[in-house]
Amino acid sequence: MKVAIVGGTGAFGRALAKRLRALGYDVHIGSRDAERGRERAIELGVQGGSNEEVVRNAELVVLATNSNGALDTARELVEAIGETPVLCAASELTFTDEGVVPGQEGRSLAEQVREILSAPVASGLQSLSAAHLAADEPPDEDALVCGDDPRAKELALELAGRLVAGRALDAGPLENSRALESMTAVILNVNREYGITAGLRLTGFP
Ligand SMILES: NC(=O)c1ccc[n+]([C@@H]2O[C@H](COP(=O)([O-])OP(=O)(O)OC[C@H]3O[C@@H](n4cnc5c(N)ncnc54)[C@H](OP(=O)(O)O)[C@@H]3O)[C@@H](O)[C@H]2O)c1
Repeated sequence: MKVAIVGGTGAFGRALAKRLRALGYDVHIGSRDAERGRERAIELGVQGGSNEEVVRNAELVVLATNSNGALDTARELVEAIGETPVLCAASELTFTDEGVVPGQEGRSLAEQVREILSAPVASGLQSLSAAHLAADEPPDEDALVCGDDPRAKELALELAGRLVAGRALDAGPLENSRALESMTAVILNVNREYGITAGLRLTGFP
C-alpha cells in the first residue's frame, strides 16, 4: 500500500516512515521543499518529494506536519489529495507558562482538516511518540483512532495496529479527536514532570 506522509521530514514522520518501510509499505515522505523531501527519503530508504507530489496516487495520506501548519497544508493540498483517505496525527495545543494545555479553538484539528478537505479524515496516533516509534521493537502501547468514515478509519486502524505491540482501538467519531489531541497535552506534561516518554495502554481487555 502506498502511504504518503505529509511533513514526513519531521521526527514523527521519519520514525513512522522507517517503521512502515520495515513493514513493507510503499512509503513516500513529503516536505514543503521537494529537495529536502528527497534527501530525507534517501536517508530512510523510502521515496520523497514535495507534499503535493507524494500525496498523488497515495492510498492513505498521513498528515504529520508541525501542528501549526496542519490547516494551511490541508488547504494547499485539497486538490492533490482529492478523495484519498487521510489520517491526521496532529494535536491542537496551547503552550503556556504553566504547561501544555488543549487548544483554545474548542474543535480538534482533525475536525477542521475534515472541513477543508474533500477527503474522508480519520484521526489517531497522537499518543505514539516519535522516540518510541523509532525504536527497534514496536512500542508496548495501544494506538487510538477515531473517525466517521468507515474506510478511512479501517485503513488507519490497520496501519496503527501494525505499528504497536498493543492494540489499535476504535475511539469512536471524529469529534473524539478533541480528547485524543488533548491527551497529547496530558502526556507532554507527564513527560516533563517525570522525565520520561510516556505512552498509552488501556486495560480491561480479556
Ligand atoms: N513528535 C512526536 O513524538 C509526535 C507523536 C505523535 C504525533 N505527533 C504529531 O505529528 C506531527 C509532526 O510532529 P513532529 O514532531 O515531527 O513535528 P515537526 O518536526 O515540528 O514538524 C514536522 C514537519 O512539518 C513541516 N512543517 C513545519 N512547520 C510547518 C508549517 N508551518 N507548515 C507546513 N509544514 C510545516 C516540516 O517539514 P518541511 O520543512 O520539510 O516541510 C517539519 O519537518 C505533529 O502534528 C505532532 O503533533 C508527533
